[in-house]
Amino acid sequence: MLDQIRMAKAYWSITRSKNKLGLYGYLMKYIKIGNTLLEKQGLTLSYIPVARKLRAMRQSKEESLNALKKQSAFLNQLAAKTVPKPLHCIPLQRTTDYFLQDHGSKEVLNKDKLEDPSLYHYSIVSGKLATSVVVNSTVLLHAKEPEIETCFSYSHRQTACCSNGDVVPCQPNPTPTPRGSVPVMMRKLVSSLMEEVGGHLRFSDVPLVLFGLFICSALLQRLTNKGPMIWPVIGIVPSLFFHINHMYDWITEALIECGGTFRFRGVWMSGTFGIVTVDPSNIEYMLKTRFKNFPKGKSYRERFSDLLGDGIFNADYELWKEQRRAATSEMHSSRFVEYSFQTMQELVHKKLLKLIDKHVKWKESVDLQDVLLRFTFDNICTAAFGVDPGCLALELPHVPFAKAFEEATEFTSFRFIVPPYVWKPMKFFGVGIEKRLKKAVQIVHKFAEKTVIDRRIESNKLGSLNHRYDLLSRLIEEEEDPDEQRKKNRFSNKFLKDFCISFILAGRDTSSVALAWFFWLIHEHPQVENRILSEINEIIGHRKSNKEPVLDDVVFTIDELKKMVYLQAALSESLRLYPSVPVDFKEAQEDDVFPDGTVVAKGARIFYSIFSMARVEAIWGNDCKEFKPERWIKDGQFVSENQFKYLVFNGGPRLCVGKKFAYMQMKMVAASILLRYSVKIVEGQTVVPKVTTTLYMKNGLLVTFMPR
Ligand code: HEM
Repeated sequence: MLDQIRMAKAYWSITRSKNKLGLYGYLMKYIKIGNTLLEKQGLTLSYIPVARKLRAMRQSKEESLNALKKQSAFLNQLAAKTVPKPLHCIPLQRTTDYFLQDHGSKEVLNKDKLEDPSLYHYSIVSGKLATSVVVNSTVLLHAKEPEIETCFSYSHRQTACCSNGDVVPCQPNPTPTPRGSVPVMMRKLVSSLMEEVGGHLRFSDVPLVLFGLFICSALLQRLTNKGPMIWPVIGIVPSLFFHINHMYDWITEALIECGGTFRFRGVWMSGTFGIVTVDPSNIEYMLKTRFKNFPKGKSYRERFSDLLGDGIFNADYELWKEQRRAATSEMHSSRFVEYSFQTMQELVHKKLLKLIDKHVKWKESVDLQDVLLRFTFDNICTAAFGVDPGCLALELPHVPFAKAFEEATEFTSFRFIVPPYVWKPMKFFGVGIEKRLKKAVQIVHKFAEKTVIDRRIESNKLGSLNHRYDLLSRLIEEEEDPDEQRKKNRFSNKFLKDFCISFILAGRDTSSVALAWFFWLIHEHPQVENRILSEINEIIGHRKSNKEPVLDDVVFTIDELKKMVYLQAALSESLRLYPSVPVDFKEAQEDDVFPDGTVVAKGARIFYSIFSMARVEAIWGNDCKEFKPERWIKDGQFVSENQFKYLVFNGGPRLCVGKKFAYMQMKMVAASILLRYSVKIVEGQTVVPKVTTTLYMKNGLLVTFMPR
């Protein structure tokens, strides 16, 4: 009602001014009625308090505005004094100049002419200031010769500051030029720009400008790219460095956030750039469909060439093909399987179990990872060379060949961390890690060369190596094979040496670290350990013997190991969560496009994180992070997974040659130990992965053994 009467009063005053007397009288009448009604309700329509209130509000706003103005002036001056001058914005520079040069108190020349309309006045609108200025020199010039039009080039610096309304004189342009000549104007413009930049930039400013560019480019990258931060010049390195202690988890999170694939770049001029992916279809495309376009590549090869030469692990195309054929045909032969099984059995019963017994007797804890590494090293050397280096002897000796092999692989990993322009000069001058690598490689090669030569001598002396079943002997024997096709293979000593070293590298630590993670996981999941034990006991129970089996006598056969379905599932599950090769990569030879649409440039390195794949729900389901051997069993049978989903043994033509060997070895060790001992993890240790090419436990795994 109040509002309506106010509105009627507003119209009433309008009608009166417009002389609409009819409407004026009509509104007057209703306003009176309205006022009477309001009075009856005890209300009055008075503007006085409202006006008073509004006035008070305006006053308080004005006061706060003044306070803000003062504050802003103070902050401007403060900024002018504290922020380095090259970083000032234009208004700030002008304000600073204005106060520093005390323009406020200076007398302006020809002040009267500034407002003389008969003169030509140039209004300069600077992009930032947006103020117009009457140029003093122009005023002077035109005052004398008003018929000449002049064109001045102005830079921001020359533009006068008029922030307080005063006119400040600019420096006159010494050479006025006729207007209309575009090239001349352009030249002027460019030179003024150069002058502008030059005027602002001093040599001491260069680091600041570079810093500014660095920040801008970093921001641009953050806004336009998905995935981890890629810094200008230093690429992904700071991000890796920052997350070094939880590298695998960090990569996993980044991959999940990006939907499975992101790009990266290494240090400037290192030539390192590429893609990280966990998308099984991208990986299948790379490892199988376009196998030829994604070899291990030059960068892998040059880093490993000192240690591995042309060995299978470091070779591509034809060089690789020949070794692959030789390795597959020998390793899948029943002769090799029987031989390797027998050596495994002997190593477990004559050395591994004896060593554990010793620690039980002495009630000592032991680093299980170290024991297993020694076991697999002796095992793979016996399988490849027919030589047992003896690392697993009771006193856990220091074996120079084993030590050198370990160092050679560790120091080679260094070449994957630093750019080539760091490790190559180090290699050339023989300094630092490169010096140590050279020494370690020499020891490894000397041992391998001697073994090859000794075996050749033995072969020549005895006329055949039929009594030996190791890979080296089998390859030498192949030369004497009655099959003409195979006989053609005359392998050089270098070929044999490189082949065996690669083979040792491939089979050395992979199964031992897998076993260490397995023992840790089953300690954390006792129900899994119990199921494994009941499976083993059930299998032993089926032995055709009337006598109760004596624990010490139980030596598993190949068939018995094959029947251990649940153990195989537990090992596969443990490898899924802790794959011995956590991350692998290939190098694109030509431009390509992945099935998910990611464009791959020639020379890009494609990393696939096997560790991360296990933790992606889209690949393994909601329970992907759980240790669940049951996921591998269907209707009591072990069910294999798609190679490109379960990449633990790689996929496609380069699938691990030693997969069967590895399962046999792991099952033999796990079943033999678990049947006899309960493995207790020593409390208080931190079990975390080490960031290297193999997923070692960073601090080893301290355990004690309790006889069952
Ligand atoms: C748990 C145990 C093992 C795992 C997880 C494993 C995993 C792998 C992986 C991921 C590769 C691919 C490497 C690459 O090309 O980038 C590979 C290749 C290879 N593995 Fe295994 N491996 C294991 C045990 C063994 C054993 C015991 C041997 C030997 C007896 C062996 C021999 C090889 C060889 C010769 C290759 C090279 C194949 C080729 O390039 O064509 N592996 N292995």
